Amino acid sequence: MFQQLSHAKVFQAYAEKIEFPTTPENLYDPIRYILSLSGKRIRPLLVLMGSTLFDEEKAALALPASTAIEYFHNFSLIHDDIMDKAPLRRGQPTVHQKWNDSVGILSGDALLVKAYEELAKCPAQQLGALLRLFNKTALEVCEGQQYDMDFELRNDVTADEYIDMIRLKTSVLLGCALQMGAIVAEADEAAQQLLYAFGMNLGIAFQLQDDLLDVYGDPETFGKQVGGDIISNKKTILFIKLKELVSTADAKELDYLLNSDIASEPTKVTKMKALYARYGIEDFAVALKEKYTATAYEKLEAIDVDESRKKTLFTLADALMHRVQ
Ligand code: IPE
Ligand code: IPE
Ligand code: MG
Ligand code: MG
Ligand code: MG
Repeated sequence: MFQQLSHAKVFQAYAEKIEFPTTPENLYDPIRYILSLSGKRIRPLLVLMGSTLFDEEKAALALPASTAIEYFHNFSLIHDDIMDKAPLRRGQPTVHQKWNDSVGILSGDALLVKAYEELAKCPAQQLGALLRLFNKTALEVCEGQQYDMDFELRNDVTADEYIDMIRLKTSVLLGCALQMGAIVAEADEAAQQLLYAFGMNLGIAFQLQDDLLDVYGDPETFGKQVGGDIISNKKTILFIKLKELVSTADAKELDYLLNSDIASEPTKVTKMKALYARYGIEDFAVALKEKYTATAYEKLEAIDVDESRKKTLFTLADALMHRVQ
């Protein structure tokens, strides 16, 4: 679905021409590897769509920015997989699994530098604004990632804290992608902010969907380890809502599961899913995701450009909310 869009082809053609050195192999092979796996490439699409919304002639100028965002995203995934001890990414072994943690750390670092190399190719007139937005966002992603890790060790995380954590780790990058496109297309400030807010709300819905897929995804299509968040005691909205609703008897079971690792309790995921089912947790999370999607749509509707120009963004947003990957 995502690959069929014409922007995806333009991005791919641009990105394919970028070459990485061959040595040291253990630095550059992992970068080639992660970039070769079939990710959805949503963020570069959002950059290009953000430009096209205001001026289709400028989309080509947004290609370096779109590549910078995709490189940053892949860097964050390599490190995230080390932090989350994840075995699978895009249906293949993660970088740290195929090589080792040190290789993951350094190849991730190099990919981050490559992101800045691309960013430096952006139109000089907009480079300052693009850099400020990119740097602010990159730090926010780090902040979100730290909260995510801190929350693994806490059992009293609130829904508001969770939403703020996913805003930082995931959704600001979607907002940033769209706004970078708008900056390159020289959109006015008010339109930039609305587009950013569209991306942010969409990003929250996107991470809610990711957290749902982590529990209910089909291992054939999801491409990541199903149940990974339960295994590592991630404080997703599913957990937080369950904690809020559990009876005293079930609270004991929940405590037991939190204190069990997968080696000593191989049915941890199944048992947690049974608790989720007992309290209608999936429906709650789906409804919350839909609420953020609706807010995202309101922001996009409010942008002062012809409705017909917004169609591809609405279509992409809709596909994202129903994705299985
Ligand atoms: C995964 O992002 C990380 C999250 C923020 C949930 P994507 O779901 O966009 O991953 P790829 O790039 O398509 O593999
Ligand atoms: C990842 O969140 C966010 C970033 C990579 C910054 P997750 O840890 O939920 O992403 P996945 O599920 O591993 O893709
Ligand atoms: Mg992860
Ligand atoms: Mg993570
Ligand atoms: Mg996840």
